[in-house]
Amino acid sequence: MADHLREDDRDAAYPSLSFVNNKDRDTPIMTHKAPLYTPKYQSHMGQQIVKLEATSCWYVVLWNWGSQWAARTDRKENFSHGIQMHGVTVLGTTSLYQSHPWVLAVLPNGEALGILADTTRRCEIDLRKELTIQLIAPSPYPVITFGPFTSPSAVLVSLSHATGTIFMPPKWSLGYHQCRWSYDSDKRVLEVSKTFREKGIPCDVIWMDIDYMDGFRCFTFDKEHFSDPKSLVKDLHHIGFKAIWMLDPGIKHEDGYFVYDSGAKSDVWIKKADGTPFVGEVWPGPCVFPDFTQSKTRSWWASLVKDFVSNGVDGIWNDMNEPAVFKSVTKTMPESNIHNGDKELGNCQNHSHYHNVYGMLMARSTHEGMKLADKNKRPFVLTRAGFVGSQRYAATWTGDNLSTWEHLHMSISMVLQLGLSGQPLSGPDIGGFEETQHPNFLDGGWVSVPCFLFVVGTLKLTLMTMNPGLLVWSSVDQCEEVCRLALRRRYRLLPHIYTLFYIAHTTGVPVATPTFFADPKDPSLRTLENSFLLGPLLVCASSMPDQSLDKLQCTLPKGIWQIFDFDDSHPDLPALYLQGGSIVPVGPPHQHVGESDPSDDLTLLVALDENGKAKGILFEDDGDGYGFTEGQYLLTHYVAELQESVVTVRISGTEGSWKRPQRRLNVKFLLGEGTMVSLTFIESLQNEVSNLVSASKEQYKTRLENAKPIPDVEKVSGQKGTELSKTPIELKSGDWALKVVPWIGGRIISMEHLPSAYAGACLNIPNVVYVILHADHSTSNLFVFTGSQWLHSRIEINGYEEYCGTEYRSIGCTEEYNVIE
Ligand code: GLC
Repeated sequence: MADHLREDDRDAAYPSLSFVNNKDRDTPIMTHKAPLYTPKYQSHMGQQIVKLEATSCWYVVLWNWGSQWAARTDRKENFSHGIQMHGVTVLGTTSLYQSHPWVLAVLPNGEALGILADTTRRCEIDLRKELTIQLIAPSPYPVITFGPFTSPSAVLVSLSHATGTIFMPPKWSLGYHQCRWSYDSDKRVLEVSKTFREKGIPCDVIWMDIDYMDGFRCFTFDKEHFSDPKSLVKDLHHIGFKAIWMLDPGIKHEDGYFVYDSGAKSDVWIKKADGTPFVGEVWPGPCVFPDFTQSKTRSWWASLVKDFVSNGVDGIWNDMNEPAVFKSVTKTMPESNIHNGDKELGNCQNHSHYHNVYGMLMARSTHEGMKLADKNKRPFVLTRAGFVGSQRYAATWTGDNLSTWEHLHMSISMVLQLGLSGQPLSGPDIGGFEETQHPNFLDGGWVSVPCFLFVVGTLKLTLMTMNPGLLVWSSVDQCEEVCRLALRRRYRLLPHIYTLFYIAHTTGVPVATPTFFADPKDPSLRTLENSFLLGPLLVCASSMPDQSLDKLQCTLPKGIWQIFDFDDSHPDLPALYLQGGSIVPVGPPHQHVGESDPSDDLTLLVALDENGKAKGILFEDDGDGYGFTEGQYLLTHYVAELQESVVTVRISGTEGSWKRPQRRLNVKFLLGEGTMVSLTFIESLQNEVSNLVSASKEQYKTRLENAKPIPDVEKVSGQKGTELSKTPIELKSGDWALKVVPWIGGRIISMEHLPSAYAGACLNIPNVVYVILHADHSTSNLFVFTGSQWLHSRIEINGYEEYCGTEYRSIGCTEEYNVIE
């Protein structure tokens, strides 16, 4: 990380709001290494123009509402807007809900560089001129470069050291969320939730939009239709649903309303330039707005949240917090409004200084309030407005989209871009928020794609008519089935997704990434927009009308990518591929996360790489709370290795103090073209380090034991008909040595090659050579999959053995052996 600011400007720059610790930014970095990319500064009429020029072509990714992330070459202003929903489309506008003055640039060699303009003010990012990134914002502000590093992921890890990682989400929040504007009563909320269970459609959360409130007054409940929130939540919990409730920043300007009265008494409102509270119109009518830049306001809000949570609130939805203001041209408050900000945030400033961080500061205060309510639970907050660093406090969604294919397509890149700005927990309104244009709007992609991408996959439709029938099951039957299948897949993948979030939380590695992350050097992957990665899992999605899976062209990165399903293939579901070399843990398709138990069957999907190896990890803990920070978890590293024509799956390491649960472990080897071999055994209690040997090895052993023994090679000379040993025998000659396990009755002979000086120098690892004389069908499948490089031949004439092997494992390293008996 290098920060570029002239010394005389350093003191004048405003404190960082994106950094976890703003002192980190202002501490000069002691290094002798000059940054490879140094921005050039220029001042013009109070604006600081910063240019970063590359000498060779590069590829730029910019977080940006609604436009494609690939090959961005335009201009974008970072100033968050609350887009008003009725009839307004985001297409063709430059409006953003969030502000991320950040660019991730990928160099032709696959290395990547991050550039952060650390300013909270209106900032223009101009990428129109080839090879140039130009940033323009009011002076002065620092520009911080991250890298270049060897990969884009490494840039994001570095960014997370500065701006923090995602809060650890409660596991239930990674399930499916049902949300629409709006349920008119507690009865309807319960009815919808129960229907999910009756229809066997998995779901964890139901959301309460503004209509639960009494006249849209935050922290209140409609006396008639939501008269007893505690008992509603009790009933919801009983059927495994969590409840998330909305809190907007606009507080009704009304004497006698307890929130208004206490806020006025504590003097927490944003002021106009004349020092009186600003009043603007939102849902409840005239509203005042808490000034979250002041610690006293944040504490006031947090204590309201704390009390509110006692009604049975599992999570909070902060909406309209750009802040959106109706009946104004800018759709927000005047930039001349005054915030009496804390010293460490930048002191007293007008709204133009704090506008972009207003939503993040609100989410921070809501997060703190939830923590106050119960320090043993992980807060779950969703925010519409955000800034670099909001991932520390809240998840986000992409805002009011339309029910169109175009918006479905865009939702993929938008969520990926949020991930590339450090926010891995986001999602769109599945099905679209407005304009139900497509009769089968939920068909195909519109549910299945977002189900995979996102965590907050909400489903909100047709707000104008508030059609109560619009739900997963209200469309055509096939659509309901596709939704069910997509959600069941998502629940099966939760062990993997939860592990990815643990990694994101602890290291900053993003969860969902563009496909080119699999091979950042390959330019052909950089324009792909209908596929993405969840770790080593590639999801190839149809995001165009009439483009079901059978017509979809999936461009795969180089190497091995094994297609698989859960015996649920459907043309409207995305195609799933697992990268060779990886193991992904999956669980049963529960109806909600609360149904899961550590003793649930665990399945490991295994795709071997060209060297016959694979690895993967699984993180398990209570799914909530902070026990994991004190070691109460289990992190298992699984490895699989093909040896002696047998794949061994074992635990190569564990972390955490949790005992390994006793459970059935199912291992599925993906063999290509959708075929797989499945094996089941018990993952033992104390089996921390011992090998988990697959059933095929068991069979192999049994066959070995039952096989008619053949004489030991060493002892056999001249003694045809005697037994061969089952343990390897070393054969040496000159500069080669072989270990041979002769096993003729069982059809497989394995041979370990101790490398010669030449091969050792080439590979720098001991080589292992497998000799298959006559493999049975399933075994040869495995070998075919690894590239058939180790297939060898045998001639047997009257007990006379000749076998030879040629190793092609790496270019330039070929050795031949002949063992003649
Ligand atoms: C905003 C939100 C939307 C919500 C609506 C009513 O438009 O973006 O999600 O349903 O307000 O609260």
